[in-house]
Amino acid sequence: MIPTWLLRDADRRQQELRAWKQRLLLTERLDGLEILDTTEPDAATLRGLYRELDTLHRWLGNRKAVLRELSGMGVGAQSRVLDIGCGQGALLATIRKRMGCAVVGVDIRGECAAESVTIVRADAARDALPQADVAVCVVMAHHLDPDALEAMICNVARSCDALVLLDLVRHPVPLALFRAFVAPLLSRIHAADGQTSIRRAYTAREMKAIVERATKVSGRPVKMLRHRVAPMWVRQVVMIRWG
Ligand SMILES: C[S@@+](CC[C@H](N)C(=O)[O-])C[C@H]1O[C@@H](n2cnc3c(N)ncnc32)[C@H](O)[C@@H]1O
Repeated sequence: MIPTWLLRDADRRQQELRAWKQRLLLTERLDGLEILDTTEPDAATLRGLYRELDTLHRWLGNRKAVLRELSGMGVGAQSRVLDIGCGQGALLATIRKRMGCAVVGVDIRGECAAESVTIVRADAARDALPQADVAVCVVMAHHLDPDALEAMICNVARSCDALVLLDLVRHPVPLALFRAFVAPLLSRIHAADGQTSIRRAYTAREMKAIVERATKVSGRPVKMLRHRVAPMWVRQVVMIRWG
């Protein structure tokens, strides 16, 4: 008979080991919020933070990756692009300038646009979305739990013919790179939120499973589905075209 104190000790050790694995290998998705999810900075600070995010997308090649996908889809002057979780619309302003198309954004904050872009306040997982040809969704997916992400993709299938979803990958390599090379250049809030975002993000395998489930549940036939992970796991891009 094993004494209960020994069992309790083994239990505690197992929990400690699990916590260390989680901290180092990011084995489980963090169930926590970012500073920006829980605070309401004044308008000028918020504008500065969204601007910083836009600069970061440029440095990291996220903006280029989205523009490449859109031009591969033939987005042009006749098209309408919807940005889901668009912040203050900086990416939409760039898309409009480069591609000459109409643009509209959706964000749960519904802040007035800093870029003269129309932004609708809506929860992308629950509310009806504006009609568009293509939706883009950049570093927003990790804000949603798996059910909400699945619901958001089904929601997009009802209002758009295609989706380009770009997000972070939960992996120790991008976390280490972010801490060493990116965080020191950022504001305090983004330096902290960036690390939380990577810990909240989906692994490539989790993302693939959620997207496959969503495309089945939506019931709309899929013409094309692609999921790519960039070198060093710095981003993952899902592209869906519905028939
Ligand atoms: C990390 S920011 C990214 C903003 C912008 N896409 C960018 O890359 O600069 C995530 C954005 O998603 C928005 N968001 C979070 N949950 C949302 C939801 N359920 N529906 C719509 N927007 C949401 C937040 O308000 C925030 O502006």
